Amino acid sequence: MIEKTEKNRKKIVFVTGNNGKFVEVRAILASRGIEVLQNKEGYPELQEEELEPIAASGASFVAEKLRLPAIVDDSGLFIKALKGFPGPYSRFVEDKLGNQKVLQLMENEEDRAAYFKTVISYCEPGKKPLLFSGLVEGKIAFEERGTGGFGYDPIFEYEGKTFGELGDEIKNTLSHRRRAIDKFLEWFDSQID
Ligand code: IMP
Repeated sequence: MIEKTEKNRKKIVFVTGNNGKFVEVRAILASRGIEVLQNKEGYPELQEEELEPIAASGASFVAEKLRLPAIVDDSGLFIKALKGFPGPYSRFVEDKLGNQKVLQLMENEEDRAAYFKTVISYCEPGKKPLLFSGLVEGKIAFEERGTGGFGYDPIFEYEGKTFGELGDEIKNTLSHRRRAIDKFLEWFDSQID
């Protein structure tokens, strides 16, 4: 059970260098009386083909190091025709290659199926990390469309529009990240006295 009294206010460390994500999660948890502290130091990232072990080992590392409950999240774009590439390497591929190169890799592919996935891991010191995932299925477009969002948003098509065309407000109601946060919160709320 998660205890929350005025004297012993629940604190959770959120490990992220992304201020936008931090502000969003801080606001959500503040409404439940939880204080979220940002930690930008990161953690040693495992080289794995799945997001789950990366997030779990990160959360566990930080929880033990700081002796506080910790959250880390890890996301990626998984393209079926490319056997899940770029997946956990999404940030690296985005930085080094960019959307045009990904579109080139997909040039002769008929199967455009892809999904975005986020895994959130929550870990308390001395305990096993818990995992919550969110996924949104879509297709890789044939060209970049839309100016909203970031990263792969202009090439990720969801029900006919790219995330870049949808705009942040709509995207944030149905995104992989939102779905993972909702699952985490559902569990979290069930733990609060
Ligand atoms: P992170 O783990 O949330 O930092 O995401 C890792 C990488 O995945 C980002 O640097 C982007 O390349 C990609 N990515 C994750 N989520 C999204 C999204 O919502 N839109 C576009 N790209 C994303």
